[in-house]
Amino acid sequence: MQEELKNIESCAIEDIKNTNTSEEIDKVRVKYLGKKGELTKVLRGMGKLSSEQRPIIGKIANIVRENIEQSIVSRINNIKQEELNNRLKGEVIDVTMPGQKITLGKKHPITQSMDDLIGIFTKMGFKVVEGPEVESVYYNFEALNAAKNHPSRDMSDTFYIDENTILRTQTSPVQVRTMEKTKPPIRIISPGRCFRNDTPDATHTPMFHQLEGLVVDKGITLGDLKGTLEVFAKYFFGSQTKIKFRPHYFPFTEPSAEVDATCFKCVGKGCSLCKGSGWIELLGAGMVHPNVLKNCNIDPEIYSGFAFGMGIDRLTMMKYGIDDIRLFYENDMRFLNQF
Ligand code: DAH
Repeated sequence: MQEELKNIESCAIEDIKNTNTSEEIDKVRVKYLGKKGELTKVLRGMGKLSSEQRPIIGKIANIVRENIEQSIVSRINNIKQEELNNRLKGEVIDVTMPGQKITLGKKHPITQSMDDLIGIFTKMGFKVVEGPEVESVYYNFEALNAAKNHPSRDMSDTFYIDENTILRTQTSPVQVRTMEKTKPPIRIISPGRCFRNDTPDATHTPMFHQLEGLVVDKGITLGDLKGTLEVFAKYFFGSQTKIKFRPHYFPFTEPSAEVDATCFKCVGKGCSLCKGSGWIELLGAGMVHPNVLKNCNIDPEIYSGFAFGMGIDRLTMMKYGIDDIRLFYENDMRFLNQF
């Protein structure tokens, strides 16, 4: 029996040596030490031994078990180390390999202009507010004093969703929404998308961007409007810029004006950008019409205000000398990367 035990030990140790994975070593453990394992079988036969022999064989059997267990543990440690080494070898990072280029996007030129404009006006104390792009006929036209037969209300100019709902054609409805909710003093700008039923060409797209401005308080004058717009023009186009007012008509302002700035490229001398005139058209503006104030429950006898609205796409085209508005919306990175 003693020999049998020694034999089991050497076989087991040989088997253990030949294992290469954790699974294989588990199988060897079951083969020798498991319930039906070789060593267990031998130990079951101990009952047949004499009482002198039993403790001697028992002792040897324990040593054999300990030896097998020990060599299993040390083999497991080796295998784990080998497995780890193999994994690390497979995961080697070659730091000399060229990296994968991540191309970063950048701000769209319209967004850059919008950010610039917001920066300029918030420094002057304006707050930014937003209004809905799907707007009611009331806010877009009626409350803004636009006559029922105003051409802009025509189906051919405006996208109607239903009789009373449209895609806003201008940011001016935000004026009304703000005056309804807020008591003067009011000093806001509102940038955003506008929509008109236009066929795309070099100066028109059915979607474009405007920035609206509104100031309402006691004693606001045309002088305040002029001063504010002059500061804006100098910041946006350069400190040498001058502005001038041309009389115009808008339903929601009285008096109304179109405001021009000296061409920032030729500083008023005349060039291809300003078509030789020395001036470029900047925006529409005026003193808020008393009817609009009344529509918003603001007493025109106590309060007055000015408003202005500019096309962000147009201003951006001027600033960078872009001759076709459609370039903004073609998503061509060769164009967009230039700004
Ligand atoms: N909403 C006008 C347009 O789309 C622009 C405009 C003109 C806005 C005069 C104003 C303003 O606030 O006072 O043509």
